[in-house]
Amino acid sequence: MNKILILGQQGQVAWELQVALATLGHVTVWGSQELDLAHPDRIQDRVRALQPQIIVNAAAYTAVDKAEQEPELCHAINATAPGILAELARESRALLVHYSTEYVFDGTKTSPYLETDTPNPLGAYGASKLAGERAIIEADCAHLILRTTWVYGNRGKNFLLTILRLAADRPELKIVADQVGAPTWSKSIAIATSQILARCGDRDRSTVKGIYNLSAAGKTSWHGFASEIVDRYRMQFPDRQLQVQDIIPIPASEYPTPAQRPAYSVLDNRKVLAEFGVQLPAWDLSLEQLFARW
Ligand SMILES: NC(=O)c1ccc[n+]([C@@H]2O[C@H](COP(=O)([O-])OP(=O)(O)OC[C@H]3O[C@@H](n4cnc5c(N)ncnc54)[C@H](OP(=O)(O)O)[C@@H]3O)[C@@H](O)[C@H]2O)c1
Repeated sequence: MNKILILGQQGQVAWELQVALATLGHVTVWGSQELDLAHPDRIQDRVRALQPQIIVNAAAYTAVDKAEQEPELCHAINATAPGILAELARESRALLVHYSTEYVFDGTKTSPYLETDTPNPLGAYGASKLAGERAIIEADCAHLILRTTWVYGNRGKNFLLTILRLAADRPELKIVADQVGAPTWSKSIAIATSQILARCGDRDRSTVKGIYNLSAAGKTSWHGFASEIVDRYRMQFPDRQLQVQDIIPIPASEYPTPAQRPAYSVLDNRKVLAEFGVQLPAWDLSLEQLFARW
């Protein structure tokens, strides 16, 4: 039976992975209390002692704006630590599954990003995630780097929960309408990861290597996402009150943030479909499912 180590315990994706990967092996889950990735010197001993055959790294420094103030910490967690995990994976012939982001790109394209497009991160978070990808590839272990986008779910910190909190007591929300992406449910990512791993089981593990886009189908703006969240919530819970009446589209220039975001965040998911037969549902269908199970 595979020994699987999941990192990022309380995170949106890691939380769902604990359920989704349970049928694939014996799962151990660590949060930052069990293994603090900001201290690279401690990673080797802890992981060597466990001897996992599959390491799934869903831990990351994800505070995009705060990363501009503490780029070294962000780099340690998002780049140095994955590099060490990759060295460990190579040494023990384990498979490293690692999540990355469309923030490795600058968002100037107008058609979905391919895995082979040239990265050009706009901020410290994107730069650290790109450095993490490169450290893993350089270590040359068996690896899957799964790039995803605009992750949300019913726990943790995410856009969906922020919108519901604000919509509960504000009559008007102003939401950026000129940034486009594919909101991706954490549960879809976890289920797709499980499907990919199940299909890797048929292959020689050492041949599993590469970057794969893994995001929901379709696209919308933050404004479109916010509007759909409020509409779906009202449909699902007609007896619960949201104060919001107007959701007003604004340009990103009216909502300045410390870190610049890509204007276009859509990924082309054809590679993961062609190689693993895996496809995530459309973003609005997933949102409907999330509310149905709320
Ligand atoms: N969120 C998005 O919109 C988004 C978009 C594209 C890609 N991604 C990528 O998808 C992956 C999963 O993201 P997510 O949204 O699930 O993240 P998340 O909800 O922010 O969770 C990140 C997890 O990482 C852990 N972590 C942070 N610092 C750590 C440290 N020093 N040592 C050990 N663990 C640490 C946190 O643990 P504690 O709670 O214990 O600190 C947290 O549980 C990440 O690789 C992220 O870069 C995310």
